Amino acid sequence: MDLQQIRQTAERVARQAGDVLMRYWAQPHTETTKRNIYDIVTEGDKASEAVIVAALRERFPDHHIVSEEGGGTDLSGGTSDYFWYIDPVDGTTNFAHNLPYFSVSIALTDPALNPLVGVVYNPVTRELFSAARGFGTTLDGAPVRVSTTDRLDRALFASGFSSDKTRARENMRYWEQFMTRSRDLRRLGSAALDMCYVASGRLDGFWETGINSWDVLAGILCVQEAGGTATDFAGQTTECYTGANVVTSNGRLHAAMLDILNDRA
Ligand code: IPD
Ligand code: CA
Repeated sequence: MDLQQIRQTAERVARQAGDVLMRYWAQPHTETTKRNIYDIVTEGDKASEAVIVAALRERFPDHHIVSEEGGGTDLSGGTSDYFWYIDPVDGTTNFAHNLPYFSVSIALTDPALNPLVGVVYNPVTRELFSAARGFGTTLDGAPVRVSTTDRLDRALFASGFSSDKTRARENMRYWEQFMTRSRDLRRLGSAALDMCYVASGRLDGFWETGINSWDVLAGILCVQEAGGTATDFAGQTTECYTGANVVTSNGRLHAAMLDILNDRA
């Protein structure tokens, strides 16, 4: 498996999907709802997904493809050696409101969900983050590293809120704890991009609960390959790959973040 070659393919596919998204950008959108009224999908999500799935299916016919809007492939229960996790628009709410912070997120994993390749592309800024296991993380082809911040009161964090509103109180508790201890917080609206901002040192850490593998796998690999740390709230690495709860950081601040998230601070 030539991960660098696959990474290049994933980069090309992400850019193609981003071009498609820009055709719908800043136009009136067609929205439908999914799990609840806050969980939406637009014509852009579906068009982007179609481009990505068609390209990956043609190039890697034996790989299983899991895609957020359901357009992936089902290889009879997923008996492939390789899995793609696709978020055709991470940050659909921003996209639907014409806010320029959303991304195409594409990850290749092994059957145990360990990310091998990850690509995150913002088609508005044209910034492309990518990583391959053992080969580092790049932004537009140049290597990036996590920040060296080691004090909470100098750190800038981001988080996100699931469309599951029953999590509101839990989210607000974390938010208050981080707000009182850190330099400041951001809720930018694309978990995949947020984690790439951690990978490139723009942010010092990111956490979220109740999201999905397709939201997190590419961003997590970008953080890991840039020298950062990714775990669940209990500090377990493989557990965070599901997105059930994820915390990514520059490494130096990881223990402090876990203390806050576990009410130990
Ligand atoms: C969402 C974004 C957002 C996060 C939500 C996710 P989607 O993904 O990543 O930042 O806070 O929890 O659902 O739905 O736009 O792919
Ligand atoms: Ca999405």
